[in-house]
Amino acid sequence: MPDPGHFEAHAEVYERARPPYPAQLWTRLRELGLLAPGTRVLELGAGTGQATGQMIDAGARVLAVEPGAALAGRLRQRWPRAGVLVGTAEAAPLPAAAFELAVAATAVHWFDLGVVLPRVHRAQVPGGCFAVWRTAFGDPSVPLTPFRERVARITARRRQPPRPGPGELDTAAWVQRLTGSGHFSAGHVEHFAWAVELRTEQVRDLFTTFSDWDPAEVAQAADAVDELGGRVLEHYVTPLILLERVQEP
Ligand SMILES: C[S@@+](CC[C@H](N)C(=O)[O-])C[C@H]1O[C@@H](n2cnc3c(N)ncnc32)[C@H](O)[C@@H]1O
Repeated sequence: MPDPGHFEAHAEVYERARPPYPAQLWTRLRELGLLAPGTRVLELGAGTGQATGQMIDAGARVLAVEPGAALAGRLRQRWPRAGVLVGTAEAAPLPAAAFELAVAATAVHWFDLGVVLPRVHRAQVPGGCFAVWRTAFGDPSVPLTPFRERVARITARRRQPPRPGPGELDTAAWVQRLTGSGHFSAGHVEHFAWAVELRTEQVRDLFTTFSDWDPAEVAQAADAVDELGGRVLEHYVTPLILLERVQEP
């Protein structure tokens, strides 16, 4: 069973290995007027600040909530202008009516939404938006690469059941989960496809950060890259879901 403490145990690798989110996603948030100089952002599950930094660079004032002390420490060091609360989305003390934008970047699947959605709603001002995204590491619309064939073979040997809940690309199911309580309504949904070339060591590091991959599987993936020439082109997709705050839930 994947463990949310996995990231904390690999904080240093996490910071180094996770590729940045696609530039088009940030452009879209700016174009929609959701991210601008002075925007007050509540970021839940901020990790080492992969998303935080982009928002700070866009002029936003970010309060980052992260339960892992080592992850939060790295975020603080890297982005001293961010406010940081070490705690969970379910329990960290949040100010009321204080944020225009809430963000969960590759984190929403760890939350108890029955607790978190009303908390985000309370923390936001009227007209607030909750932006939720994850990344599917492997774009199913792209023809299978030799490396992805190897990855599929590795994961097919697993005995444990896949992570419970809808997958990254099942945005319809996520919208249903995120709007079911009545605190938010569905706004914009958009998929951003992107590609990144990774060397063997980068694959070793990146796959180490995946909470459903064990060290033997990571080694097999790294060996596969070596056998394929030491570099692979990976195709990923980041679906973005924008939720509008409902005034009277
Ligand atoms: C895949 S990482 C994403 C980190 C960062 N947002 C990013 O985009 O790189 C998932 C993060 O969610 C955090 N997390 C897990 N359970 C959480 C919870 N209940 N409340 C808040 N954050 C949580 C983990 O500690 C981890 O930092």
